[in-house]
Amino acid sequence: MKLIATWIALAIAVGDGPRGVQPNVERSAKAFALQAEADAIARRLQPSGSGSAENGKRLYMTYYCYSCHGTEGHGGAGSRLIARATPDALIRYVRKPTGGNMPPYTSKVISDLDLTDIHAYLRSIPPSPPAKSIPMLQQ
Ligand code: HEC
Repeated sequence: MKLIATWIALAIAVGDGPRGVQPNVERSAKAFALQAEADAIARRLQPSGSGSAENGKRLYMTYYCYSCHGTEGHGGAGSRLIARATPDALIRYVRKPTGGNMPPYTSKVISDLDLTDIHAYLRSIPPSPPAKSIPMLQQ
């Protein structure tokens, strides 16, 4: 449904206004908006489970996940974040956290798409090395 709405919005944006008479500023703002829409569509068309890790990292900072979970999800006041198996599992948790200490984020605050990107980011973080591989900890 969302996708259809976006296509309709795009069709209207492309089709409206007499050609060549709009001021340049307005035209480039429109081009910018169209590019953003196109990016969103491209991401939506990716197979599920493959959000953009790069965008996810930015969102992880923007939504303050890092303030409790550390900049790389390795913990802090919040728990260590192990990327849940699927974006859906992460989305379910974030909408209704079960531990009692994490605030819920509704879909008005952060979209499923953004959480899919955050999921991709968490998956892209390499795990920290096991304690036994760190010589200082063996003395
Ligand atoms: C105010 C601090 C705080 C913020 C902000 C926060 N969390 Fe949490 N989160 C927690 C705590 C604490 C837990 C451990 C469970 C509990 O006690 O509620 C947790 C648990 C989780 C878990 C489950 C841990 C697991 O892997 O089993 C996920 C997933 C999670 N958070 C994701 C997020 C994401 C994504 C964001 C940003 C959109 C976020 N959190 C923002 C505090 C926070």
